[in-house]
Amino acid sequence: MADKKLGIWLVGACGNVATTATLGLFALQKGMTTNAGLVTELPPFAKLGLASWQSMVVGGHDIRSPCMTATAERLAAEGVVPRDLLDACREDLAEVESRIQPGIAYRCGKTIRALADMPLAPDDVSPRTFLSQIQSDLQAFRDREGVDQVVVVYLASTEPLTGGELPTTWTELEPLLEETGETSLRASSLYAITALERGLPFVNFTPSAGASLPAIDDLARRRGVCHAGQDGKTGETLLKTVLAPMFAHRNLEVMSWVGHNIFGNLDGSVLNDPENRAAKIQTKDKVLGGTLGYDPQTLVSIEYIKSLGDWKTAWDHVHFRGFLGTPMTLQCTWQGSDSALAAPLVLDLVRLLERSSRAGESGPLAHLASFFKSPLGSDEHDFAEQYRRLLEWAERHSAAD
Ligand SMILES: NC(=O)c1ccc[n+]([C@@H]2O[C@H](COP(=O)([O-])OP(=O)(O)OC[C@H]3O[C@@H](n4cnc5c(N)ncnc54)[C@H](O)[C@@H]3O)[C@@H](O)[C@H]2O)c1
Repeated sequence: MADKKLGIWLVGACGNVATTATLGLFALQKGMTTNAGLVTELPPFAKLGLASWQSMVVGGHDIRSPCMTATAERLAAEGVVPRDLLDACREDLAEVESRIQPGIAYRCGKTIRALADMPLAPDDVSPRTFLSQIQSDLQAFRDREGVDQVVVVYLASTEPLTGGELPTTWTELEPLLEETGETSLRASSLYAITALERGLPFVNFTPSAGASLPAIDDLARRRGVCHAGQDGKTGETLLKTVLAPMFAHRNLEVMSWVGHNIFGNLDGSVLNDPENRAAKIQTKDKVLGGTLGYDPQTLVSIEYIKSLGDWKTAWDHVHFRGFLGTPMTLQCTWQGSDSALAAPLVLDLVRLLERSSRAGESGPLAHLASFFKSPLGSDEHDFAEQYRRLLEWAERHSAAD
């Protein structure tokens, strides 16, 4: 991979996570930061021949006019990214902004459409029209930047849940893309189809449907392309998948698990709409049953508190029962910058998907389960076991080179 150029195409490029990941990449390229937070910088991944940070170039889509610098200013004011890093990267950010293209908001719902400051096509256009637009943007990026491979990362606002029946095979779904009537697809799935049809690895870091639909996964397998998702595991859910196995392995019965999340960034304001929040709650709430082997009573709340900005507080209350039926409680508070937690994982995933793609892997990458709240291709939610599987994969591929 040493001399090859790798494109990173960020959908939702002007958002907090995309901007922090981009600034983080510049910091790594300029030697202005350590490798803290980056999984792929750990020793077990050293012999994988991963793409270098220097080889990477960023472009993307957004439904807001390019405003990465403005997002970076806000993140610096909030203490999420260092001000001196932003000052050193202004020209680099402007270059990335020049590569950001108008995105699509097909059936994304009113809250996401309200974010847009550009005209959006109505929803009664055929999905194929949107696919053609995204495909030509991706092709133009490849040609202009001379990149050998592009990894597409979906980082756009969380869509409402996908409703309604969809065919489960690509052969049945493909003709529907030419029709102008109602479909249950949303923009995240159209971005996924675009990438996979073009043979480009696709990461869905959000709870939106993306490539999780069976017919789109079928497309990936047929084209021999890999994808990974769904919903990055960065904070409270990460903690849950570490703690839940502890209760299970000590035979402590979890009776209820309550998690209250408060934060105030743009993502939080979109999740304030119950339709958009439903998808997030579903992925956050999925992890316990699989690990414990039974379903305790759970409650997950997500509240938008504007003054907190990107700083999320998650308070968890676990009520459990031990020997002789004695009830006990664990309470913990997680306070973190949402974007600083998510951004390094985005960079890791780009490297890992590029490596899987080079190894000829296709379909959902189950060995990346530790990165996601609802891992595609895997039912495993225990973080330690997920990480063990990642190490196994890394060892196999290190040995193969
Ligand atoms: N920060 C975390 O820890 C974390 C963890 C897991 C998942 N996520 C998910 O990652 C996503 C990004 O988070 P964020 O904090 O950067 O959000 P954000 O609101 O700051 O950014 C989202 C960006 O997507 C753009 N957008 C919305 N719909 C679009 C579309 N259809 N096409 C192109 N652009 C579109 C918006 O204009 C905005 O710039 C969210 O869905 C969030 O739920 C974040």
